[in-house]
Amino acid sequence: MRKIRIGVLGSGKGSNFGAIAAAIDEGRLAAEVCVVISDVADAGILKLAQDRGILSHALPASRFRTKLEPEVEAELVRILREAQVEFVVLAGYMRMIKEPLLEAFSERILNIHPSLLPQFPGLHAWKQALEAGVPVTGCTVHWVDAGMDTGRIIAQREVAVFPGDTPESLHARIQVAEHTLYPEVLAGLAAE
Ligand code: GAR
Repeated sequence: MRKIRIGVLGSGKGSNFGAIAAAIDEGRLAAEVCVVISDVADAGILKLAQDRGILSHALPASRFRTKLEPEVEAELVRILREAQVEFVVLAGYMRMIKEPLLEAFSERILNIHPSLLPQFPGLHAWKQALEAGVPVTGCTVHWVDAGMDTGRIIAQREVAVFPGDTPESLHARIQVAEHTLYPEVLAGLAAE
């Protein structure tokens, strides 16, 4: 069976990357993670990649808060192309993606967001859900476009909000859903 070649971008602890790697190990996802890239030099996701012997790169972007320097984005494109990546998988990557990367991987960049988009785009979506008092939130996998969490939705999973939930308890429950949803969506792409 053909394996899709993916490059993973993340800024944090990397639990979604871990779930994707586990799905590959367990034969639930026909994919190869060719490279992992982070904008945070000491991010857990890079350590997880190194532990698995996967090519990893730290590409810190310091000049702006949310976007990438043009030269950093050009370097990202170079690394992803050199690794012959087909799909770019954003897994907790906290930077906006601009034209060079969007054009190089047109319709081939995915993101996971911790809410039922279009509700609660942007940062700390689980906190936004708590503050809004909704009984149900969830997570969304979508194609990435130039907007903030606005790309076409591929799949969503609902997660109940319980009375007494804290931001941490709700985010933890959303992450459990993320860890099954993202590998399932990628497996669907691999089967196409
Ligand atoms: C995930 O919950 C993901 O949905 C969220 O960051 C977390 C990363 O966790 N992404 C966003 O909020 C993007 N706007 P991880 O590093 O453990 O995978």
